[in-house]
Amino acid sequence: MIVAIANQKGGVGKTTTAINLAAGLALRGKPTLLIDLDPQGNSSMSFLDITQIGRSVYDALAEQAVPMSEVIQRTGLTNLSVAPARIALAKLESKLVGEIDSHYRLKDRLEPVLGHFRHIVIDCPPTLGLLTVNALVASTHLLIPIQSSYFALEGTDDLLETIEKVRARPNPNLRILGVLITMHDKRTALARDIRGQIQKVFGGKVFKTVITKSVRLEESPAYKESIFTFAPDSTGATEYYSLCEEVIDRA
Ligand SMILES: Nc1ncnc2c1ncn2[C@@H]1O[C@H](COP(=O)(O)OP(=O)(O)OP(=O)(O)O)[C@@H](O)[C@H]1O
Ligand SMILES: [Mg+2]
Repeated sequence: MIVAIANQKGGVGKTTTAINLAAGLALRGKPTLLIDLDPQGNSSMSFLDITQIGRSVYDALAEQAVPMSEVIQRTGLTNLSVAPARIALAKLESKLVGEIDSHYRLKDRLEPVLGHFRHIVIDCPPTLGLLTVNALVASTHLLIPIQSSYFALEGTDDLLETIEKVRARPNPNLRILGVLITMHDKRTALARDIRGQIQKVFGGKVFKTVITKSVRLEESPAYKESIFTFAPDSTGATEYYSLCEEVIDRA
């Protein structure tokens, strides 16, 4: 399973979901790779110290001479490796302009390491540009986090259109694994209303698991830990664990 976590809307919980899904899959005993495709590098920094990051995904995507295996690093968590991002990744789009294989770079560069990992999770940036398209071309599945907020569904049309374009040509096998409601506040009527709206649009694609707002989830990256080791008894840990189970059942 190669699952891209994408939504071009910023701050909806993509990175939080990518790091905790990857950690949860690794904790279940399967070798897992987390690929950071966001130049902000938030998911890299959730497991690695910035000083530990030498070569990054940018080098593997931009330079034929740098194999993906040279970029991948082990993390403190057993079974979890990370292909880290640096700000250089922001230059990729201009670097690959006019290159005939620009949409296929990640898929091609991943090929030699596929045998080493059971699961691959890709954290996408908040755009529908070349990086996200590379993730969609390389993936078998897509997970869309949607923040439980008033403007939750704004922009999802553009995302769905991009998915259809990718499915039409480069990757007909791409499947929407599910839509994940994040930062939900069960107490408010507005949040319940938004959940209803999201379910109306996406129906059975919406995961049963809903991620509620939790300070623990916000804090854990600062300590370079996933929610499972940082606060194993928190609601965030329980919810992301149940997401892992749903993901495995659906994949
Ligand atoms: N369930 C949650 N409860 C509370 N805070 C959360 C939750 N999920 C994410 N956050 C916080 O919300 C902010 C945005 O989350 P995150 O970085 O995961 O979103 P993103 O979609 O990756 O953002 P970007 O588009 O910038 O990459 C972060 O500060 C994060 O810690
Ligand atoms: Mg992010």
